[in-house]
Amino acid sequence: MPALLVLGGSWGDEGKGKIIDYLAADADVVARFSGGNNAGHTVINDKGEFKLHLLPSGIFWPQTACVIGNGAVVDPEVLISEISELTSQGIDVSRLTVSDRAHLIMPYHVLLDNLEEAARGAASIGTTGRGVGPAYVDKTSRLGVRAVDLLDLDQLRPRLEGILNNKNQIIEKIYGGDPILMEDIWSQCEKWSQILIPYIGNAGGIIRDAFRENKVVLLEGAQGALLDLDHGTYPYVTSSNPTVGGAVTGLGLSHKSISSVVGVFKAYTTRVGAGPFPTELLDSTGEEIRERAWEYGSTTGRPRRCGWFDGVAARYSAELNDYTSIILTRLDILDGFEMVRVCVGYQVDGNVVEGFPTDTDVLARCEPIYEDLPGWKEPTAGATDMSQIPNEAQNYIRRLEQIIGKSVSVVSTGPSREQTLRTDVQL
Ligand code: IMO
Ligand code: MG
Repeated sequence: MPALLVLGGSWGDEGKGKIIDYLAADADVVARFSGGNNAGHTVINDKGEFKLHLLPSGIFWPQTACVIGNGAVVDPEVLISEISELTSQGIDVSRLTVSDRAHLIMPYHVLLDNLEEAARGAASIGTTGRGVGPAYVDKTSRLGVRAVDLLDLDQLRPRLEGILNNKNQIIEKIYGGDPILMEDIWSQCEKWSQILIPYIGNAGGIIRDAFRENKVVLLEGAQGALLDLDHGTYPYVTSSNPTVGGAVTGLGLSHKSISSVVGVFKAYTTRVGAGPFPTELLDSTGEEIRERAWEYGSTTGRPRRCGWFDGVAARYSAELNDYTSIILTRLDILDGFEMVRVCVGYQVDGNVVEGFPTDTDVLARCEPIYEDLPGWKEPTAGATDMSQIPNEAQNYIRRLEQIIGKSVSVVSTGPSREQTLRTDVQL
């Protein structure tokens, strides 16, 4: 059976974790394909509240095999602690497979991520500091260490010595940092190898077998379309492709294996880290959204920047991924606002801008053109059927559909699995 691909529609943190946990009830396999522990997926279910950074959000369903694909980057230290944390909370993680082709985030990647950010000064990207960018750099420059390397440490050692020598030169001579010692990194490699070998395997094979056997496969995006290395707000992006193509290369599957691509959007917009954000609200309304929604990063704890729904960016994201449908999350956060605004265009110096600008400096100068819609007094929180939603909120959803050019299939009205409603639109 072809897969359902769930993607972040904007700058990440759209509520993908809750949606995957909700949809995974019917899934045989849930697979992540890009990014690393820069992701922070919050899942609240009958087993408790969890913040996952690496493990697929399908891990809570006992029938679901979970896969971390070749396109993801894996910090073994984080993987081990996430596995042991979940295990101690009674969650069985034995159904996890990490692709043997996935690249590892090594301690020097984390160090370099932070040294590079500090050196950028005012021009910093606001990375999560988890070593994700430097790990992808090494993958591309063919200096990477892959999960498969943990299966044969004798073979890895001389290559790692060469790589570490190169990294230490950069750390010391360019950034004036302290070198990383081979003994330290080597004892970590030995520990990782011992603990992780049972989880390392042929992830691509598992996925391709699942398709052949007609199983239900769910593909879990991390980050969001506007953080895409190629299509996002470069250079204020992440170093992987959280858009539709990333799923194909990040797992090794045919495009024909994907039948639906759903884009997850919040009912408003947020961004964490630096970079242009035309609808950002630097006033009390932005503050109110942040506090109501507790918009603080689940990976870094940073306050998220909040603003009204950006219809221009959402339309661009929808064109890029050709979403089959849209999933709208956190509608309940807008409950009680007198008026809600949607950005329907951008202007620079009074001139309307066509589309979503490639030039980040132009995007930074864009001012939103807003359409104001009446708010709603009755709560949408907890609604499980469209009929329980006030007319003004229904109109808001209809208007977003028109602006994005895609229909809404699911609305999330609260953090738990049950606080979800399906429309008559197919996923
Ligand atoms: P989830 O999966 C929101 C942002 C960082 C920074 C930029 C680059 O929870 O939606 P990186 O550490 O990736 O090199 O940082 O990307 N970023 C995210 N923002 N949600 C995420 O993941 C993110 N992952 C990375 O804040 O601006
Ligand atoms: Mg997140």
